[in-house]
Amino acid sequence: MTDVVAAFEAAKGFMPRDEGMALYGAAREVAGRLGLPLLEVGTYCGRSTILLADAAREAGTVAVTVDHHRGSEEQQRDWGGGIYHDPELVVDGASGLMDTLPTFRRTLHEAGLEEHVIAVVGRSPQVAKVWRQPLGLVFVDGGHTDEHAGGDYEGWAPLLAVGGLLVIHDVFADPAEGGQAPYRIYRRALASGVFTQVSATGSLHVLRRTPGDFVP
Ligand SMILES: C[S@@+](CC[C@H](N)C(=O)[O-])C[C@H]1O[C@@H](n2cnc3c(N)ncnc32)[C@H](O)[C@@H]1O
Repeated sequence: MTDVVAAFEAAKGFMPRDEGMALYGAAREVAGRLGLPLLEVGTYCGRSTILLADAAREAGTVAVTVDHHRGSEEQQRDWGGGIYHDPELVVDGASGLMDTLPTFRRTLHEAGLEEHVIAVVGRSPQVAKVWRQPLGLVFVDGGHTDEHAGGDYEGWAPLLAVGGLLVIHDVFADPAEGGQAPYRIYRRALASGVFTQVSATGSLHVLRRTPGDFVP
């Protein structure tokens, strides 16, 4: 466990340690209980993927992580004076677009967890449309606009098995603390009647899928 936490802390990314440990705990619990794949939207450089991968390894299942690897709006060089842009990441010279895939692959290789992860390069709603396997956990940490967070919720939450966990990052009730799109999908999940709150650690909220028909 120490090595996994050290690898998480050494990886590029935005998730603080307490939220990471809450994600790791939820992933280990549900992977051990259901044995189903753990799905992440928003790979970036693999910081949170390490935790899902180790939970999957321990339970004999797999982590699936989806990202187009071009970065979210706020991670681009030209957004907000570049406050969320990491100049160490690859920017393709010809297109000027970010490419986080090489850094992600290095992160996972260094953590020794490559064989426990299926990395899908693509847009989350398109991948969700062709995905058919029930999931034990869905972790939503992709684009933070209503279009993207809403698409992630509508695409992936219906694929969660009963008893599975929906984990949403960057949930802020107060608009002064952060964007509201993740908060809105969190509220939608609770209002659906088939999700119940398990925990909240910082901005990371864990919900459990309960029995019943689901209309996202
Ligand atoms: C906040 S970062 C993910 C951080 C990562 N989970 C971590 O803990 O380090 C968001 C990522 O979502 C990806 N993304 C944004 N919108 C997406 C979409 N519609 N489909 C796939 N990936 C998307 C971006 O490319 C970016 O890498």
